[in-house]
Amino acid sequence: MQSQAYNKERVEAILSKMSLEDKVAQMLQLSANANPSDIFEKFKSEGKLGSYLHVLGHETGSFLESAAQTELKVPPIFGIDAIHGHALLKPATVFPSQLAMACSWDDDMVEKVGEVTADEVAADGLNWVFSPVLCIGRDLRWGRIAETFGEDAELISRLGAAIIRGYQKNGNVAACAKHYLGYGEATGGRDSYDTEITERKAREIFLRPFKAAVDAGCMTFMTAYGSIDGESLTVSHRYLTEILKDEYGFDGFVVTDWENFRSTVQGQKLFESMDDACVAGVVAGNDMSMNSNEFYAALVNAAKEGRISIDVIDNAVRRILAVKDRLGLLDGEKKTPLSRDIIGCDAHQAFNYDVAVKSTVLLKNNGALPLAGAKKIAVLGPNATDVRAQYGDWTYFSHPNPKPEETGKECTYTVLKGIQAAYADSEIVYAKGCSVVGAEDAQTSDAWMNEALAVAADADASIIVIGDILDQNGETKDRANLVLSGRQNELVKRVKELGKTVIVVLVNGKPLELNEVEKYADAIVEGFNSGDMGGLAVANLIKGKENFSGKLPISFPYSSAALPCYYNQYDYWHFGQKYIDVPKGSPYPFGFGLSYSNFVYGDLSLDKTVLARGEKAELSVELKNDSAVDGEETVQLYFRDKICKILTPIRTLIDYKKVSVPAGESRTVTFTVDTEKLGYYNRDCEYCVDAGEFALYVSGDGKNFKEITLRVAE
Ligand code: BGC
Repeated sequence: MQSQAYNKERVEAILSKMSLEDKVAQMLQLSANANPSDIFEKFKSEGKLGSYLHVLGHETGSFLESAAQTELKVPPIFGIDAIHGHALLKPATVFPSQLAMACSWDDDMVEKVGEVTADEVAADGLNWVFSPVLCIGRDLRWGRIAETFGEDAELISRLGAAIIRGYQKNGNVAACAKHYLGYGEATGGRDSYDTEITERKAREIFLRPFKAAVDAGCMTFMTAYGSIDGESLTVSHRYLTEILKDEYGFDGFVVTDWENFRSTVQGQKLFESMDDACVAGVVAGNDMSMNSNEFYAALVNAAKEGRISIDVIDNAVRRILAVKDRLGLLDGEKKTPLSRDIIGCDAHQAFNYDVAVKSTVLLKNNGALPLAGAKKIAVLGPNATDVRAQYGDWTYFSHPNPKPEETGKECTYTVLKGIQAAYADSEIVYAKGCSVVGAEDAQTSDAWMNEALAVAADADASIIVIGDILDQNGETKDRANLVLSGRQNELVKRVKELGKTVIVVLVNGKPLELNEVEKYADAIVEGFNSGDMGGLAVANLIKGKENFSGKLPISFPYSSAALPCYYNQYDYWHFGQKYIDVPKGSPYPFGFGLSYSNFVYGDLSLDKTVLARGEKAELSVELKNDSAVDGEETVQLYFRDKICKILTPIRTLIDYKKVSVPAGESRTVTFTVDTEKLGYYNRDCEYCVDAGEFALYVSGDGKNFKEITLRVAE
């Protein structure tokens, strides 16, 4: 599906009446916070700027009024980082982070998250979300792992397309696929650095979610900060124009990330002047500049001096106007806005609760869960009460305009509040135990630890909520050490030494090394950054009022130095096949997640075992819920080309299905296997499906696989 049609005549008529200055103004986006400057004030009063970012609804009035005074009456498009809900606005619904919601593997639910978010954004008077992040989260050191849908191209493509459909469903908000391309794969997990991949590799992995975004009709794209093999994305005609616009047929507009043009001068040292940088960036395929003030004068001058063709500028403006028209901004009709009452309303929070339940993953359970009959429960740990840690990045507390004085919302459930609500008949006692980073003095630190141990000693069970905090996650917060910081591991160990049940709940932005926790915890629950309802969801899951169904979209490391640990790597063919000092693979791999139900997989069967290229086969598997608890399972289908002309990963996900199976019952799960999905890119970047044998694997946990062979005939 491409973006819905726009009124070409209207757009061309506006374009034909624009001066050069009007056109270049359309191509600029300024931040209402990072300015003000003379140029900001000029645009604000003239009413001709293409876009503003980081403006909340109540701040839009003067910008709209000045646009309405102009002859052409083209309003600005307002962009906002509503990346897990419209969370920069305080009363809005804060959903789990992208990484957390990816644990649901639920396309329909993620689509609805997009729709609800867009409704709240539109009700606030804005029309453009800088979401989704389609970067592949394979280097856990990268600060922005929490913003991704995990490590796998297929899962990211499906969830990305789903949330884009949701955002754009009601026609008043544009989505933005970002960051194009390779940001998450930068060498060393460094924010905004070079990515050492080839175009072949880009096509095999990194471009796939972006192609899916184009096919889902995504109206805008954002250019990444980084470079690929030494070529800055900002000036990459190959990636921005030849592949994205010409080959994939992207018909929306491309906005740079924050001051990309300036980075090509100051950071990447590609140009001596902003003039040259802006011209090269626009010629490469960027249609709008995010917040480089110099852009306006640079481009106007370059056009007057003939250093950039007016056709290039016209094409960029045409794309911007087309998106504005699709959003109904150019038809001059007065729209009845969605009621502000929907922002953070009860219905949205009820849905948010379901999202949080489905986004939580059970990593370990030795029988301690469900936790029943505990008269006294100790809730310990720094993240049991930390709303900021639970929310993660990009909320009104944090990035990009931190408001340290803000308080949490009434409706938000931390884990402590959730446990208090779920276990209303038990006595709940809280003690912090330690801080996350351990910056306090030794005396305070010991006092916290001792208090927690005393509380735990007197309780039937301890729920210890640990993880990471905002300072350890997010843009420019790459992290070399993935060990639980401060005295968090010690807290778990010492509480366990009291001989009591220990349940660890993780509130964090990325997979951390859990070797110590695994040793001492009876159960481990991973919530990531779970939004407003995370605490209640976790509590009801621990209690058994809800069942776990989440599966990891990303693999956990045995050690910070044993990276990367993503599942779809090549075989390791020399002796040993592992680091000498840590186990091979991942303790909790991609696809892993336990449940109170016990799912038993039967053998696989195919309706055809030999196929011609282009044909499809039906693969079936019997799934039994061998337990007394109704449950939902995510059945995952992987493949491997057994003999291939190019190295192939040990397994590649090609499909997944969510299936509800009542206690004691069985369901037959059927996948359509399309031979077209069994291919690879060759040296010349051509997609090929070889003849020969293919292994198909079905799994529910990323650890145990049922296998069957399919043959593609010559
Ligand atoms: C981030 C983008 C974000 C933009 C606007 C940049 O620093 O990389 O993801 O959308 O700022 O806030």
